[in-house]
Amino acid sequence: MMIVVEHGSMCKLITIAGQKGGNGRSVTAVNLAASLALLEKRTLLVDCDPRACSTVFAGLDTSTLACDLSSVLFGKVAPSDAVLTTRLRFMDILPASFNLFHAASRLSLNAGNERILRIFLRELRTEYEYMIIDSPASYGFLTVAAMAASDWLVVPFQCTPGNIRGFSSLLRMVRHVRSHFQEGLKIAGLLFNQCSSREEIDRFLAGSDLNGVEDIVYKSFVPRDDAIRIAAEDGKPVALHDVESPGARAYLDVAKEVISSFN
Ligand SMILES: Nc1ncnc2c1ncn2[C@@H]1O[C@H](COP(=O)(O)OP(=O)(O)O)[C@@H](O)[C@H]1O
Ligand SMILES: [Mg+2]
Repeated sequence: MMIVVEHGSMCKLITIAGQKGGNGRSVTAVNLAASLALLEKRTLLVDCDPRACSTVFAGLDTSTLACDLSSVLFGKVAPSDAVLTTRLRFMDILPASFNLFHAASRLSLNAGNERILRIFLRELRTEYEYMIIDSPASYGFLTVAAMAASDWLVVPFQCTPGNIRGFSSLLRMVRHVRSHFQEGLKIAGLLFNQCSSREEIDRFLAGSDLNGVEDIVYKSFVPRDDAIRIAAEDGKPVALHDVESPGARAYLDVAKEVISSFN
């Protein structure tokens, strides 16, 4: 099935970003993409991390992939040839493998190659309403390339001091990408993950020096929920594991909030 969106500019490119590993970028990439798809938004999940967590969380076996994002970046295949369908009718995936590490090592030798992902993804823009890009934790070539390909960042956040330090370095990174590659890059929102209540988040924000960020914190938050972890280990979005679980409900709420923020 192919639904062609009339205006290519309508495709929203969103990188799930953040400087700290283990914050839930990959589970958010998979579950936000899946929730958008369940809400019948044609969505492409792009795995831009050589660890390929979102590829695995989406149920693919990286050892049997004929091609992946690295094949696209190496110029071996067209972007559309590396796209695979998923169990969800409205969700496709452009998967990753460890070869992405080699692609990044080579491409990073020439300044300006950070724009290459944006150029390749442009070819797919007319086919999707959302592209959700998973990015690595470290600030290297692939993180810059993912941000440079995006219009928006969604930043998973936990109530820990390490996240506050991570956020100020993320802001510096955003300024770098804006001034060199993509002046339109904006932070769509901070998504609190592994939290127990709204009050916990409010207390955390009040006690932090993250002044003014309240306005960009999503109202929905993702609770700590074993269903999320188990579903990921089982290669499924949590909604396909247990649609009634708190995690599945939370990600559907996040997807609705993301959609309404663009209306
Ligand atoms: N809300 C949550 N509830 C339970 N487990 C979670 C939650 N968010 C993340 N996890 C688990 O934490 C680990 C790290 O998440 P991951 O998305 O891989 O982080 P990152 O991509 O930021 O490094 C994974 O094992 C994942 O299943
Ligand atoms: Mg990850």
